[in-house]
Amino acid sequence: MYYPEELVEEVRMKNDIVDVISGYVKLQKKGASHFGLCPFHNEKSPSFSVSGAKQMYYCFGCGAGGNVFTFIMNYENYTFGEAIKMLAERAGVNLPEVEYSEEMRKKENHRARLLEANKEAAKYFYYQLRAKQGEIGYRYLSGRQLSVDTMKKFGLGFANKTSDDLTKYLKQKGFDERLLAEAGLSSYDEQRGSHDKFWNRVMFPIQDINHRVIGFGGRVMGEGEPKYLNSPETPIFDKSRNLYGLNFARTARAGNIILCEGYMDVISMHQAGFTQAVASLGTAFTSGQANLLKRYTENVLLAYDSDGAGVKAALRAIGILREAGLTGKVIDLKPHKDPDEFIKNEGTEAFQERIQNAENSFMFEIRILERDYDLKDPESKTKFHKEIAKKLCGFEIEVERENYLEAVADKYHIGFENLRRLVNTYAAQTGMVKPVERPKQAAGKKTTPEENSRRTQRMLLTWLTDYPQVYPRISQYIKPSDFTEELYRKVAERLFSDIEASNYNPAGIVSMFEEEEQQREAAALFNTKVEALETKQEREKAFHDILYAVKKNSYEYYSGRLGSDMDALNQVIAGKKALEELGKTHISLD
Ligand code: UTP
Ligand code: MN
Repeated sequence: MYYPEELVEEVRMKNDIVDVISGYVKLQKKGASHFGLCPFHNEKSPSFSVSGAKQMYYCFGCGAGGNVFTFIMNYENYTFGEAIKMLAERAGVNLPEVEYSEEMRKKENHRARLLEANKEAAKYFYYQLRAKQGEIGYRYLSGRQLSVDTMKKFGLGFANKTSDDLTKYLKQKGFDERLLAEAGLSSYDEQRGSHDKFWNRVMFPIQDINHRVIGFGGRVMGEGEPKYLNSPETPIFDKSRNLYGLNFARTARAGNIILCEGYMDVISMHQAGFTQAVASLGTAFTSGQANLLKRYTENVLLAYDSDGAGVKAALRAIGILREAGLTGKVIDLKPHKDPDEFIKNEGTEAFQERIQNAENSFMFEIRILERDYDLKDPESKTKFHKEIAKKLCGFEIEVERENYLEAVADKYHIGFENLRRLVNTYAAQTGMVKPVERPKQAAGKKTTPEENSRRTQRMLLTWLTDYPQVYPRISQYIKPSDFTEELYRKVAERLFSDIEASNYNPAGIVSMFEEEEQQREAAALFNTKVEALETKQEREKAFHDILYAVKKNSYEYYSGRLGSDMDALNQVIAGKKALEELGKTHISLD
């Protein structure tokens, strides 16, 4: 961490979380907490809660949560350092200049120089497009029906025919030739020296989520190869972790994000009001990009080209989205090739309609699969059905599998029971999914023992933050090492020592972690849903059960490591004794 912990705490304490969040979300007081509509997912009734006492927020709908830093990081898309800076300014706390190590400073400097070079280049291109020499570029873009505002919003520019003017300009501004080559703005050869990489093209600056230019795509005006020339990967331009248009799309709050293939598609969609559109950067969609999208939405709509290559790319993207836990749907653009052409020909309303009718990605996959089979031929038809059964086995949750089974059986006129038998046979053969047992009382989510144990560990931490006064009564039974998840253990260590020092403050614990994901997980520890229990007796029993379960899990965990872990034996001996005692001890929650 850059700043001393006390300072981070000072900044946090001077920014009351209810105050800060009220600036972004309309909150209403209900009991001890404030509630509002979650800004991190789409919802109609408020499940987003902010606790002034805990100085934390938590959404019971999507699991977003943390302290005031986490909120700002998540909402504004800031790093931890940036969030601290902003909140320090808000509360009038002076922050010292950050002290970097020599190596860090060099690295930061280098990144900063690359960013500056890109920014200067973007300004240069921008100016060129609007000058006399850029007329041809301007005409090209206008011909593609981009408005003046749209060109401005996306910072479009023009690289003229002169092959070394940008390089000259940037060198004269103090940029080193090697840096310009690394940024992909110039290339060098012995005969000609340094010259511009981009010339005679319209330029699309590529921005990161904070609107900083990190690279370019340059398009020929008309026919020519390559159609688009792109900046190479650099320390500031990671093509697998950025998306074109995300700097705008992330605040669109449309309830979905549209993923497409081309720069022009993004721009067209934004111009038509679909500001939730993004595109990958001249490379295939990656899991890094899926995770990036996951921060903003659960629903991704694919608007890939309708040709063969586009369908293939869409199928790949669907798999990646699914792996990241995102729901994918596919927008049908036929008879047009891509979103740009669709909107140009059919207009905004027609596109909106296509969005509404986007096809479930699984049904899309099956529809594409169908093309490979001749359904008039019994053998081919059987193969098709087997292939469907195989794919259905991919759904681990029974209800989900059943629903898809029904939908597919219906659409392709396959007997529901027949298809189900096929699925069960296939699953039994491969052991992928257990044949479904009737009667189905066990419908619903199955949880693994690991998830169960994590959950009880989370619940214990929630109880202890709700009733810190109980800690002294249980400290002889429970140690941080009983939390078998590393992050939970760290939190418990800190929570216990804070309580011992009469310095109980869970929101401060969250800032031990610098990554938003970890902060979110730490915050979840203090907000696990504990069933509302009526009587004191019930509560005490529940608490006892949780405590016992955590201890038992720890005992089993260390027993399993005997022989490989030096400390395990001690843990096991102490654990056995504690379990016996706990079994007969009553712990009061008063
Ligand atoms: P497309 O060929 O579909 O182009 O490539 P487009 O976006 O529809 O552009 P227009 O409408 O013809 O002007 C889709 C994307 O693939 C990358 C670019 O990111 C482009 O936006 N691409 C394509 C390249 O990087 N290089 C190329 O030569 C072609
Ligand atoms: Mn196009």
